[in-house]
Amino acid sequence: MAPRISTLILSLVFLLSIFVAVSSETDEYDDPTVKTMEAFSGYQIHEPSVQGSFSPLSVDTETLQEQIDELSTFSDAPAPSVTRVLYSEKDVQARRYIKNIMGLSGLSVREDAVGNIFGRWVGSEPELAPVSTGSHIDAIPYSGKYDGVVGVLGAIEAINVLKRSGFKPKRSVEVIMFTSEEPTRFGISCLGSRLIAGSEELAEALKKTVDGHNVSFSDAAKLAGYPNEDLSSVFLKKGSYSAFVELHIEQGPILEEEGISIGVVTAIAAPASIKVEFEGNGGHAGAVLMPKRNDAGLAAAELALAVEKHVLESGSIDTVGTVGILELHPGAINSIPSKSHLEIDTRDIDEKRRNLVIEKTHQSAISISKARDVKLSEFKIVNQDPPALSEDSIVKATELACQELNLSYKKMISRAYHDSLFMARISPMSMIFIPCYKGYSHKPEEYAAPQDMANGVSVLALTLAKLSLS
Ligand code: GLV
Ligand code: MN
Ligand code: MN
Repeated sequence: MAPRISTLILSLVFLLSIFVAVSSETDEYDDPTVKTMEAFSGYQIHEPSVQGSFSPLSVDTETLQEQIDELSTFSDAPAPSVTRVLYSEKDVQARRYIKNIMGLSGLSVREDAVGNIFGRWVGSEPELAPVSTGSHIDAIPYSGKYDGVVGVLGAIEAINVLKRSGFKPKRSVEVIMFTSEEPTRFGISCLGSRLIAGSEELAEALKKTVDGHNVSFSDAAKLAGYPNEDLSSVFLKKGSYSAFVELHIEQGPILEEEGISIGVVTAIAAPASIKVEFEGNGGHAGAVLMPKRNDAGLAAAELALAVEKHVLESGSIDTVGTVGILELHPGAINSIPSKSHLEIDTRDIDEKRRNLVIEKTHQSAISISKARDVKLSEFKIVNQDPPALSEDSIVKATELACQELNLSYKKMISRAYHDSLFMARISPMSMIFIPCYKGYSHKPEEYAAPQDMANGVSVLALTLAKLSLS
């Protein structure tokens, strides 16, 4: 074996042994990394580190927690709730905070036309497609401080961990903070990653999209500092990244209940969302007698119950449906609703079954409007996305990282959607889940324990290290 290669192997074995020393759940460690690193030995790292030149390696959990707490103060809701909506003043401040932290970690930072933020650690072979990681920092109204944030600040810390170890990536490693994973403001989920994945349909639709206060997407973007209206400039070609891995809290209870440290995501369920509007005649709540009414509010209520019925009819625990928005106009106690507006979210790991729920819901909306003599003025499928499968090689790299760090793990499905769903369109993808308290998410009680975050960051760091050499 060439001396350079053997130095490399020794260096990486040493790096991994420090990982284990700081992160393992038990003191015992049966070093399996020689084999792993032999698999990497065909690749060259410039300026290989020499044994002994590493500084002690550990996840700086304290600083990570401080950053998470600090970021949570950029919020339009009082603590412990977090509300951070796309292009709001707080969102702009939070973005500045993230760019600053990326800069402090020595990453070269760029932003695209919708404010996806990229922080790159340049590898020794920068012409190769980089490995990427990242998540979002926008927060739905009255939610918590960990959703998405762990995958952005944790990713920056994973790079810090690798840098402190003396590790030198071959492929560049890039952290992405995606714009508007949450659909709060413009009703479109994963707005930034959909565009990165090249959605011309979305780029076109955004020219006419307005928020609930009639502010257009482009005016909101301009105000937030993104005046470039050429949204096709956001598109990235397939192959722009060799891999994408997202770290995220599980948002469900399985890992915590089973006492498992890491979830290795093998697939992401297929999400869809629908907007519905009914229009009736309205009128006086006392004077208009029941047989004479065309109550748009009752049509909405009936449709909400129909959604639940159609979801349960699937017979599968994996089919879910939620009416998260139900608005009545004019919204006065003594006025029969003349208009109603519903937003329906439905998901399944089985796309066909999910599509059947959409179809049945549409049929129900039509029959309810006839029976109640109200107009079905809108039935709009906002998005109807297919599921995404993780890439085997990334799943394996993460499993191996867990084994080497002596952390328990299980393969699992993500029922929540993530930017990874769209990154899968242009890059091999996988995700790393960590437990969260009682599976709580999208509410202020959301919590991830520091040790669980440290485990997730370690696994991410080691996975990125492996992918950057492959
Ligand atoms: C993401 O926030 C989701 O709703 O799954
Ligand atoms: Mn979320
Ligand atoms: Mn999220």
